[in-house]
Amino acid sequence: MKSSEVRKKYLSFFASRGHVIIPSSPLVPENDPTTLFTSSGMQPLIPYLLGALHPAGKRLVNSQKSFRAQDIYEVGDNRHTTFFEMLGNWSLGDYFKKEQLPWIFEFLTKDLKLDPKKLYVTVFTGEAGSGSARTGQSLIPKDIESIQLWKEIFSRVGIDAKIGDHASSADARIYTYNARKNWWSRSGEPDKMPAGEPGGPDSEVFYDFGPSTSSGQVWHDSKFGEKCHPNCDCGRFMEIANSVFMQYQKQADGSLKELAQKNVDFGGGLERLVSVTNNSPDVFTSDLFTGAIATLEQMTHKHYAADETDTRSMRILADHIRGAVMMMADGVIPSNKAQGYILRRLIRRSLLYGRRLGITEDWKYIGELVAPFAKIYEDSYPDVLIKTQQIKLLLEEEGMRFGKTLEKGLSEIEKIETLDGHKAFYLYESFGFPWEMTEEIARDRGQNIKRTQFEEEFMKHKDASRTAAAGMFKGGLADHGEETTKLHTATHLLHEALRRVLGEHIAQKGSNITAERLRFDFSHPTKVSSEEIQKIEAMVNEKISENLPVFSTTMKKEEALASGARAFFSERYGITVTVYSVGEKGREFSREICGGPHVAFTGLLGRFTIVKEESLGAGIRRVYATVTKNESAAHPGKISSKA
Ligand code: GLY
Repeated sequence: MKSSEVRKKYLSFFASRGHVIIPSSPLVPENDPTTLFTSSGMQPLIPYLLGALHPAGKRLVNSQKSFRAQDIYEVGDNRHTTFFEMLGNWSLGDYFKKEQLPWIFEFLTKDLKLDPKKLYVTVFTGEAGSGSARTGQSLIPKDIESIQLWKEIFSRVGIDAKIGDHASSADARIYTYNARKNWWSRSGEPDKMPAGEPGGPDSEVFYDFGPSTSSGQVWHDSKFGEKCHPNCDCGRFMEIANSVFMQYQKQADGSLKELAQKNVDFGGGLERLVSVTNNSPDVFTSDLFTGAIATLEQMTHKHYAADETDTRSMRILADHIRGAVMMMADGVIPSNKAQGYILRRLIRRSLLYGRRLGITEDWKYIGELVAPFAKIYEDSYPDVLIKTQQIKLLLEEEGMRFGKTLEKGLSEIEKIETLDGHKAFYLYESFGFPWEMTEEIARDRGQNIKRTQFEEEFMKHKDASRTAAAGMFKGGLADHGEETTKLHTATHLLHEALRRVLGEHIAQKGSNITAERLRFDFSHPTKVSSEEIQKIEAMVNEKISENLPVFSTTMKKEEALASGARAFFSERYGITVTVYSVGEKGREFSREICGGPHVAFTGLLGRFTIVKEESLGAGIRRVYATVTKNESAAHPGKISSKA
């Protein structure tokens, strides 16, 4: 089946059972700064699972865009992806196990037409084993009710479902596991749940690819254990559905308390469900990926399934570009912090694996992978199609920016026989080659490089790089005279005002300052309208009239970036950087990594005017601006000192 068909069937199955279809929340969670991405369907619904009333009622269903950054290194096998769609249905204190389990079985076997004989289920075994699910002092019991329900469900289709565990014989149908496998919360088993987190035992459905091998033999690789079972990692089984009985909340004292309402939280990965309808263990053969894989085949003149290493590279590229596209459609842009940093890592890894497929020169190829995803998500996520040009441009820009670093770094790495933390630092400091990439390449080579060695070097170079950082911006300044210094501070105000008026996508592309004027280049897809120019000027002039203090602090580059300081080509900075802030401490209007110098108070700048705005082509705009003398400046014009 096609993905659109599976998605539609699922939504209408639950809609016809009283569920309201709710839209997917954005990939970047709204009002939840604790996580970078929405990583499950239940995440936006937590308040309602805990008891708040949902405006759409007690039965909800949707397909949620999700992203799991922690799976980035797993991608490349036949089933892991970073971005995925999670089909979810919820009972907010309404129905429970006896409705949920038969419904899921009916959906899988009737609507998706899966052969019941290929389905195996798992149920929570209680405290036995290493799990530690407790309420107060009592243990959370074995889920006898679900076992009984599954026995009845299977018997209705003529299957005598035997009960077993991972060590018992292979003819069991219902397997029991401890909390490590059959307990779900966003942070895993009960011991790992933070106070306040909801969770509960779950019951999963697995699809068996085993008996369908051409030889008729049951497929099991004994290196994963003597006996095969649903949670065996040999690849025979794939988890396709997870009904969580979300009825507990972790307490500050470490115990689990029953919630006032018993909820059902179902999650089923769309990619996997589509693959099993086609009896394929490879999610990358589903229609969600075929367009991108075909494009890659054309580009590389290689066949997807011809060579294991190439297959892996194609999967990584297809997954990472899809993830990047979906993030950008939701407004994320490449940067050095938070979501933007994960996006940057996806794009950089794509370029690395592109090179491994033999695409060495033309970084623009990554832009060609946007169209297949725009097409496949045309109806479900139309934003991808609407923003195609913008996404392509951002991808290509990032590709161009990192492509050269990658080329240089890789040719240097080839010369190094044994990689270690010291060498990783050398690559980072000399070529801006990211630590993660050296680490990944060493891992592929079977070399284990230590982060501690890298950090040691980092500290040793602190003083030397402080000097380097201070020199950075001198290139953009004609001199350190009074007028140039004022215009330099005005440039910081302008940069921030551009972002606030035009959007977070604004990135500095260049800066040149003389005693007469400032010149500033930045990424922006369209002409800046005269209304926007007025707004930007007004914002800068407001900050000038507030006479804000300008001060600098020295910190590690990572700290500066994490604190939200703006950076211009941050790969080029040293390890220790100076951050110039405009505004009272804690209420800064702007923070930028920069070598100075700056005026001490913005009141010294005089009136700010944008005199010209023009295009530099390829999504880059240039503005010229001046400041006039302000006789009523409240403070004498001195160069600011360190705070
Ligand atoms: N919320 C259930 C799951 O993600 O599997």
